[in-house]
Amino acid sequence: MTNVAVIYSSATGNVYQLAEAIAEGAASAGAETRLRRVMELSSPEMIARNPKWVAHREATAHIPEAAIEDLEWADAFVFGSPTRFGNVTASLKHFIDQAGILWGQGKLTDKAVSAFTSASTTHGGVESTLLALYNTFYSWGCIIVPPGYADPVLRQTGNPYGASFIARKGATISDDELAAARFQGRRTAEIAARLAP
Ligand SMILES: Cc1cc2nc3c(=O)[nH]c(=O)nc-3n(C[C@H](O)[C@H](O)[C@H](O)COP(=O)(O)O)c2cc1C
Repeated sequence: MTNVAVIYSSATGNVYQLAEAIAEGAASAGAETRLRRVMELSSPEMIARNPKWVAHREATAHIPEAAIEDLEWADAFVFGSPTRFGNVTASLKHFIDQAGILWGQGKLTDKAVSAFTSASTTHGGVESTLLALYNTFYSWGCIIVPPGYADPVLRQTGNPYGASFIARKGATISDDELAAARFQGRRTAEIAARLAP
């Protein structure tokens, strides 16, 4: 059994939708999955200013918070963050920064990893966010699993770096974007199974 942790940050739910699809895809490959949200660092006052953020927070309160032990448990992880000024959220980065002990013990080496994001504009920085995440995984010695164009649906969504959703002007996530996310989860689980000793 391959263990896959899908660890995400999401304010208004767009990244969460991708995270769910990625977890479904990993499960379809026979993996055991953990869907985990990272601890939110934004203040309650900041969250309260955005009704969509408040609603999403309440709707996903049942999702367990990510713990560093999830990284040790996982054979593969898939990280997701909204694009914030072309980069990841402080909340996800804070979680990642706590992995130093596992990193020091060599417990992250050779695990499969992939990443996903959502932004509000086409050129608003989805690739820069994904590449920023991948920088961490070079340090960890992980095996980065990009979707590439390894499935026909990637020709439709067109992001070989990782699943992404452009939520411009209230757009809803398309079936193709969800299919690309499912594919990314499945592919990451399958590559992790191939890497198993
Ligand atoms: C502080 C902040 C910074 C943002 N920066 C960008 C950005 O650089 N480029 C972009 O296209 N969208 C940006 N956005 C929009 C979010 O990336 C977008 O709404 C995303 O879909 C939110 O994902 P979520 O629903 O999972 O929180 C920003 C939003 C916030 C709140």
